Amino acid sequence: MTFFSKRPASVADSSNRLPVFSHLPADVCYMDSACQTPRIRLVVDAEQEYVLHHNACGGRVRYKWGKWVDERVQGARTEILQLCGKSEKEYAVAFTLNTTYGINLVLHQLPVDPYDRIVTSTIEHNSVFLPSMTWAQRNGKERLVLPRSEDGSLEYKQSQLQKTIVLVNNASNIDGRTLPNADTLADDVHAHGGILLLDAAQSCGHDPAALRGVDFDAAFGSGHKMYGPSVGFIVIRRSLLRSLQPFFLGGGTVESVEHDSFGLFTGADEHARLEPGLQNWSGIIGLREAAAWLRKQHIAGSEHALAQALFDRVSAIPAVTVVNGKPGSILSLYVDGIDAHRLALYLDEKNVMCRSGHFCCHYELQHNRHLPPLLRASIGLHNTMADVDRFVTTLETIVRAI
Ligand SMILES: Cc1ncc(COP(=O)(O)O)c(C=O)c1O
Repeated sequence: MTFFSKRPASVADSSNRLPVFSHLPADVCYMDSACQTPRIRLVVDAEQEYVLHHNACGGRVRYKWGKWVDERVQGARTEILQLCGKSEKEYAVAFTLNTTYGINLVLHQLPVDPYDRIVTSTIEHNSVFLPSMTWAQRNGKERLVLPRSEDGSLEYKQSQLQKTIVLVNNASNIDGRTLPNADTLADDVHAHGGILLLDAAQSCGHDPAALRGVDFDAAFGSGHKMYGPSVGFIVIRRSLLRSLQPFFLGGGTVESVEHDSFGLFTGADEHARLEPGLQNWSGIIGLREAAAWLRKQHIAGSEHALAQALFDRVSAIPAVTVVNGKPGSILSLYVDGIDAHRLALYLDEKNVMCRSGHFCCHYELQHNRHLPPLLRASIGLHNTMADVDRFVTTLETIVRAI
């Protein structure tokens, strides 16, 4: 079933798109950055350079292709640390499949005795919500699911932080709410002998500076949400990394092996404890370009005007209920009488690509708030005001006709 009777003319004005996105088709209005951003040209070129000319394994080989890989992989670790404003002396960077994998890898390899409970929040992605559940269940520990205020701050009492693992996002994929009390939270958690683990999957692409002043113990991100390849990363305090009790081991994680024991990598190479098996070298090399580029962008300035226009114009459409309390890079909504999945298909007929559903936040959206599947438009640095205009006018046309 189609909504529009004929294919649309090419209307998106991509002329003022940043040159690094010039490879994107001009008539496409892509608004699903919260899931996956477009890759910048620099990333594609770096990945290609690896595949076509230096397709070797990193961290193990002595021939020149391997040396080329090692230099760039080390560069990627440095870029990620600079993006979050952390020093190599205090923090290590390990690469993983994605944010989800990184969270599970660290959480389930933590020593259990130092912690009495785990705290998470209501507005978490399943990638946080479920591992917090399994950690508590497996270890017979308490689990608290705390609320977040309108501005995103975690609402807690000091007594809830005693010997506690706090695992929360610092930007929500429902409505872009951040964690404004992250720095005091870190101080309070540490004062009570706990640790702060941050799901930074959303913040890294929109506000990487948000991690800079926060004394977190580990943060998890995904290159595919920051204009890079599908590869994840963990930024982890070295003392915490050394305290892990790794059971997910194999090639690349150990320096020595005896009959019934092994020696894990130490010193500058200790990140290898979290990198079992051969890594996604082209992805990591591409991520280095994305992180270096992202660090130079004035993201808030670029996205703010688009987010404001999106919020104001969509809020003014009578049949639409906006879920957000305020503008942000993510806007979630529903329209009574139209299933969000159908809405997404109708929008797609005009090459407007948005997400529909509960965005892996079933607990908050389905269980707590009893909301129907939502439509989510999430913007990024590739979007222009023409994209916002196209999204809004297409949505208005559909809503008015139904
Ligand atoms: C807030 C948040 N956390 C975690 C994730 C999981 O990220 P990944 O699929 O890269 O593991 C997402 C993905 O959308 C997210 O938005």
